[in-house]
Amino acid sequence: MAPRSAPAVQPTRTTDLPTQRLDIQSIRAQIPALAQLVNGKPLVYLDSGATSLKPQIVIDALVDYYGGCCANVHRGVHTLSQRATTLLEQARETVQAYIGAPELHECIFVRGVTEGINLVANTWAQRHIGPGDEILITAMEHHSNIVPWQMLCERVGATLKVAPFDTRGVLDMDAFAALLSSRTKLVAAVQVSNALGTINPVVEMVQLAHAVGAKVLLDGAQAVPHGPVNVAALGCDFYVFSGHKVFAPTGIGVLWGRRALLEAGGPWHGGGDMIRRVTFEKSTYAELPALLEAGTPHIAGAIGLGAALRWQSALGLDLIAAHEADLLAYGTRLLEEIDGVRLIGTSPNKAGVLGFVLDGTIGAHPSDVGMLLDQQGVAVRTGHHCAEPVMDFFGIPGTVRASLAVYNNRGDLDALAAGVQKAIRLLS
Ligand code: ALA
Repeated sequence: MAPRSAPAVQPTRTTDLPTQRLDIQSIRAQIPALAQLVNGKPLVYLDSGATSLKPQIVIDALVDYYGGCCANVHRGVHTLSQRATTLLEQARETVQAYIGAPELHECIFVRGVTEGINLVANTWAQRHIGPGDEILITAMEHHSNIVPWQMLCERVGATLKVAPFDTRGVLDMDAFAALLSSRTKLVAAVQVSNALGTINPVVEMVQLAHAVGAKVLLDGAQAVPHGPVNVAALGCDFYVFSGHKVFAPTGIGVLWGRRALLEAGGPWHGGGDMIRRVTFEKSTYAELPALLEAGTPHIAGAIGLGAALRWQSALGLDLIAAHEADLLAYGTRLLEEIDGVRLIGTSPNKAGVLGFVLDGTIGAHPSDVGMLLDQQGVAVRTGHHCAEPVMDFFGIPGTVRASLAVYNNRGDLDALAAGVQKAIRLLS
């Protein structure tokens, strides 16, 4: 994979945008799911924050694996097993290049962000966080970056601290800095909020955390699909992302961690492939990455993830970020012009998430709006988006959320705006 520049966050100001443009029609033609009618209307897919649609090249990689070298990895001397192993390890190399990981063996295949965070909570954090210590998160975390830390705090007697955000969804950096102390052992924070779209100032957060000796885990689930990410430039200690949000299959994701920390955490799941030697008296363990990849991995998923990351990189990660910034600005203008729409998440530094509620509709729940949009062929997510504390902050049960990906165009947002106007007429 070609080396690439590595800004830590996606550009959102027009002055940052590259002048070259993507051929969105050609990208759309590579996504078979887009070529269907839903409720008699052409599909307008605005739910990529939940999961992305898959390009044909990724689907082909799965078919090729299952139809060809459908063998287990790291276990066989036969040709098919060696081919499968090579493909899986090539996918790991793709991941390493994609996130700028210093070492290949620091890239661990997991099921997704949830498993990656639980892995860190049950290994490094379990061994290095104890009574009186603190873990600092933000108030805009997904449940997957809240609950594992609550569970850990209960187990080890540590305390969970939460940095607040303001009514735009901007993290309060003064409060964040004030909550850090020598007691803070870990900061676990989202890079891009799935509910608000906020891009957090993660480089600054990492620097502040490191200044008090804390380690930092970043949840990149909603960052990786939208532009370049480089863990070395970010400076974090652990980074997690899910494949299915970045054009790859479900059930595969990546945990990157600094080698010394992963090794210091020791194993989590025990079983095949993670051992050096097993006797009934004692077992000894394998090196990374096998140490943290017990059992047969999601081989097809990893191969599909490699294909997806290569596909996305070939499009141009900076161009993707620029395209989505244009769409975000366009969609924001359209929604702001509709009477009754209240945007939830208005940070000046945002990724492609348009969350909103309808103020003028009597007793309507976001899911009512979602169902009316579905009748127009417009797919959005409604509800709390696994970020209930965010909804509690705004005093709402949930939002309607349109989330963008590289294959969206302005026509999709026109359809969203028209659908919302129709929903308002029907619900008022
Ligand atoms: N976390 C995913 C979302 O934001 C499922 O929709």
